[in-house]
Amino acid sequence: MALLPDITAFYGGGDEAARLTSGRTIGTIELVRTQEILRAHLPPSPASVLDVGGGPGVHARWLTDSGYQVRIVDPVEQHVLQARGQGLAAYVGDARHLDQADGSFDVVLMLGPLYHLPDSSGRAGAWREAHRVVRPGGLVAAAALNRYAKLLDLDSPNALDIATTGLRVRRDGPTTYYHDPSELRAEARQAGLGDLGVYGLHGPAFEALRGEERRTGKKDLGAKALETALAAARFADGHPELVVSSLHLLAVARRPAVGTVESS
Ligand SMILES: C[S@@+](CC[C@H](N)C(=O)[O-])C[C@H]1O[C@@H](n2cnc3c(N)ncnc32)[C@H](O)[C@@H]1O
Repeated sequence: MALLPDITAFYGGGDEAARLTSGRTIGTIELVRTQEILRAHLPPSPASVLDVGGGPGVHARWLTDSGYQVRIVDPVEQHVLQARGQGLAAYVGDARHLDQADGSFDVVLMLGPLYHLPDSSGRAGAWREAHRVVRPGGLVAAAALNRYAKLLDLDSPNALDIATTGLRVRRDGPTTYYHDPSELRAEARQAGLGDLGVYGLHGPAFEALRGEERRTGKKDLGAKALETALAAARFADGHPELVVSSLHLLAVARRPAVGTVESS
């Protein structure tokens, strides 16, 4: 299968790792929240983790440092080389067609591929492959963009289009896909996964933080903004109706253990 030339060009110009690690408040929240939600669901280390779309390895790094055995698969060669450069196991590959054997990992992460698969058949393929390579009883965690969160952004000219179609079409780049949160659940269930939770990573304060960035010209909005936004996101975890306010979603699911039947 062709390995997405437009994706390679999209990531070719920048440093994807910096998105989460440069001290930008929005990036720090994404990293902290991904870590805390995953840590609440991961099996103890050492367990094996396939990080599909793992990029340059920000999550693979802390997981490895915590004792997990992590392997990255990503279609962008630059990401694979960056990850290898810090000693991580990383290989070129595509979420829709994984080389890994059935049931061969305790955990499969897909923290990014679903944004880049605008066709439902591509997303279904990625979910099916995650279900196939995780062991029975194992964990699958997948990130997605939420199509309704842009409605809170006063500066987004295409917010209504995105909310309506789920598609953000760029003139000079790949089309990005935004989920309805219930669609994200349905996709996971369709692939045979159960025990499903969907979390808002940034929580309700995301667009307020973006507005602050624009108003102040700063990316690091300080400790008070960080703590306030994190507290709001953690509060929202207990109120599922608030999930639509968060731009980034994290679905956490399990492949049913052998001999169990998943209820809907
Ligand atoms: C927003 S980045 C996230 C990187 C990393 N997982 C993180 O959370 O920091 C999305 C990643 O998905 C990868 N990706 C895009 N399409 C993919 C596909 N079909 N299969 C696997 N990975 C894909 C990109 O190359 C990129 O590394």
